[in-house]
Amino acid sequence: MLANIIDYGMDGMGIAKIDGKTYFVSNALIGETVELEILSDKGRYAFARAVKVVEPSKDRMTPPCPYFSECGGCSIMHMNYAHQLEYKRLLVEKTLKKILNIDLKVQDVVPSDPVQNYRNKISLSVRDGALGFFRSSSKDLIEIDACLLAKDRINDLINEIKNYYLDKDDLKKIKNIVIREISDQILIGVVTVCDMDLRELYACLHSKFDRLGVYLIINTRKDSVVISGKIKHVAGLKQISIENYDIKYKVDLVGFHQVNENVQNKIYDEILSYVDDQASVINAFSGAGLLSSIISKKAKRVYGIEIVPASHKSAQELKQINKIENMTNILGDFDAEFRRVADECSLLVLDPPKKGCGEHVMRQISHIKDIIYISCNPISLAKDLQFLKNDYIIEKIIPFDMFPNTTNVETLVKLKLKEEI
Ligand SMILES: C[S@@+](CC[C@H](N)C(=O)[O-])C[C@H]1O[C@@H](n2cnc3c(N)ncnc32)[C@H](O)[C@@H]1O
Repeated sequence: MLANIIDYGMDGMGIAKIDGKTYFVSNALIGETVELEILSDKGRYAFARAVKVVEPSKDRMTPPCPYFSECGGCSIMHMNYAHQLEYKRLLVEKTLKKILNIDLKVQDVVPSDPVQNYRNKISLSVRDGALGFFRSSSKDLIEIDACLLAKDRINDLINEIKNYYLDKDDLKKIKNIVIREISDQILIGVVTVCDMDLRELYACLHSKFDRLGVYLIINTRKDSVVISGKIKHVAGLKQISIENYDIKYKVDLVGFHQVNENVQNKIYDEILSYVDDQASVINAFSGAGLLSSIISKKAKRVYGIEIVPASHKSAQELKQINKIENMTNILGDFDAEFRRVADECSLLVLDPPKKGCGEHVMRQISHIKDIIYISCNPISLAKDLQFLKNDYIIEKIIPFDMFPNTTNVETLVKLKLKEEI
């Protein structure tokens, strides 16, 4: 069956309408005519894939990854980069307009440089001695030699790990391998269900990679959570030491850290452009305190609010190591802590998890002059902004391409209190 692709849905799928029925078509670009193979028919709509592109779009490109058609990771690698960026801009604009029901303009997406080999962390699955990623929505493992999103040294390491296990049976005991590499420092987490001697693996890898550490993670969970259970340092480096924006900080294997440093810094630069030396700032959902400490270099004072004790402890260490005096790390729930400091602050930076802030948090916010909201989920962002749209003007909406070749997008929204305009 032939179909004309008229729009995009979630996950970068093309949308076609035939006789009143909607088809969500993978590997199909807007404007294309494609031949469909139906994958699952749900009655009023169906999922399909393009088996032949009859009239290709000028924005189509041959995906550079050999695993593209099987691996579930990069669903828009068949779009050229300019089209990927416009797809994401429209995705943010459409989602916000639909939920907020107001007219708004989303700026061009700030690109990533590089577009491939940008990820500083990946998590591989292992099944029956093969190492790779799962096929989308399935438990079939696609064995890989390298991932085009991962940094080159991570791919070199995957190669060495595969070589090491070539004549050994031990890889079958492993569930996952997590690798993080920043500034030539590497941490590896080997996830198993029982104890395992990894000292020889460490020695082999260390002979080729100078600054490297290995952890054993004994995780007996049956769900998809990778890092959980007992974490044991085997040998070598324990943490990665970084210096960025004049802040010295440490990243471990487990803690949150943005995967794309190039785009992370572009977001930080944008945030800093709203901070001046008279500003007292609240950084809500502040994690291990990196963003708060960067803001502290420019602001009069910054308050970080974080609910997880371990992250708060890291933020306190960051403050001490960098001798920051104008940063106060508050351990607690936003709901309970925000009001205590809100009156003396003019800028609120919100950086919540994927599910967003939620109604309870958003209803607390009023009077504060300027707000910057950073979000990795346009839907939860739009739902949260509903609570601000009467009192605040949305001044800027800037998407950032933190995750090229995938449909994920990071968005920064700048809001100003109406009576301040
Ligand atoms: C996206 S991360 C923020 C990362 C941080 N900005 C950074 O750069 O490291 C979201 C953080 O919000 C915290 N969090 C979640 N709910 C919270 C709440 N109700 N109050 C305060 N912090 C919360 C989480 O523990 C997590 O550290």
